[in-house]
Amino acid sequence: MNPDARAGTGNQVLRMTVNGEEHRGVVDVRTTLADFLRHDLRLTGTHLGCEHGVCGACTVLVGGTAVRSCLMLAVQADGAQVETVEGLADGDELNPLQEAFHRNHALQCGFCTAGFLMSVTGALREGPVETEQEAREVLSGNICRCTGYAGMIRAVLETSEAGPRAGAAS
Ligand code: FES
Ligand code: FES
Repeated sequence: MNPDARAGTGNQVLRMTVNGEEHRGVVDVRTTLADFLRHDLRLTGTHLGCEHGVCGACTVLVGGTAVRSCLMLAVQADGAQVETVEGLADGDELNPLQEAFHRNHALQCGFCTAGFLMSVTGALREGPVETEQEAREVLSGNICRCTGYAGMIRAVLETSEAGPRAGAAS
């Protein structure tokens, strides 16, 4: 083993599919997935708030599961399918969940929005969200400091009611 890698430093070759596109690179093994997405791939839709797993702003999907990208090392996602907020819309066409957020005024500054969208996307792929209580639980892992949650709850319920396509990328 490379002694640098044993000490938690050094570089490693990385291969990752992000929003359907394959990427290869060499990263410092200490690089978080969030920093790799934002700085190496320039996918800055993924935001960083607390950087210690509390706020959910950095949520992305890895292998279809919502994860805090500030808590995951990029090398832990080696070979994985990663989805970020940039993969939701089709060009200028928002996907149904994004449209529902827009329609229900479920954002103000938008700093938290990417994280909410990815958390909800992951949840809707697991199954419908049919009650306000279920919607609250889906949203409970993320924090918004300015808009409140009522609009988000409506957006989740409307999107779920619209059917399975709502949880897919456009
Ligand atoms: Fe990752 Fe807050 S930035 S949970
Ligand atoms: Fe501003 Fe959520 S819309 S933090």
